[in-house]
Amino acid sequence: MDWLRWNRRRYDAYAPLYDRVVGQLGFLERGRRRALEMAQLRAGERVLIVAAGTGLDLPLLSAGVDVVAIDISPAMLGRCTARATAHAMRIQAALMDAARLGFAAASFDCVLLHLAIAVVPDPGATMREVARVLAPGGRISVFDKFLPDDAVASPLRRAAGALASIVATNLNRQLGPLLVEGGLSLRALEPAGLGGLFVAARADKATH
Ligand SMILES: C[S@@+](CC[C@H](N)C(=O)[O-])C[C@H]1O[C@@H](n2cnc3c(N)ncnc32)[C@H](O)[C@@H]1O
Repeated sequence: MDWLRWNRRRYDAYAPLYDRVVGQLGFLERGRRRALEMAQLRAGERVLIVAAGTGLDLPLLSAGVDVVAIDISPAMLGRCTARATAHAMRIQAALMDAARLGFAAASFDCVLLHLAIAVVPDPGATMREVARVLAPGGRISVFDKFLPDDAVASPLRRAAGALASIVATNLNRQLGPLLVEGGLSLRALEPAGLGGLFVAARADKATH
């Protein structure tokens, strides 16, 4: 199965409805806000939003950050640029696969991965790319659903996860091993909804 093409097609189809579903769920906005608080963005910093979708993060960003947004779906990214315009924000937006980022190493101070890791087809390659484009001392802001690192998915959860991956999102990815793959260090992690299925987290790249 060509998951990249499938994601592009299905998110192009979901785009008109996305904000009416995801944008209306209070716990998702609270989790997103909490992850951004942990990231402590500062004016002048370069921020990459990976799998930016319709840009629900944009209105929550600190003033004065320099934003680049990438996504694989033209329809989602089109809504993201429209949201930026509506909020008088100037952003750069590009159609791009999260696992093959077209940026030089050390280009960003912070990368946002909000509802992204559970959806991209290759989370390991994505995390390696994110780590590559982060500057030394940079950090990632994560908000997503994960299987706890010390848990083993039950057969029921595995079956539900397989089904959910096709139309929505993976339920059984684990953050810890992905951070190891990117060489990033977990700095903070908190439950952020649905009994701990969602977490808000921050991880840092070493300064040297
Ligand atoms: C659940 S949405 C999250 C959107 C946004 N980050 C948010 O928090 O609302 C997942 C997004 O991932 C994008 N996506 C899926 N696979 C991708 C890939 N390989 N590279 C970049 N974006 C991808 C989809 O097009 C969709 O916009």
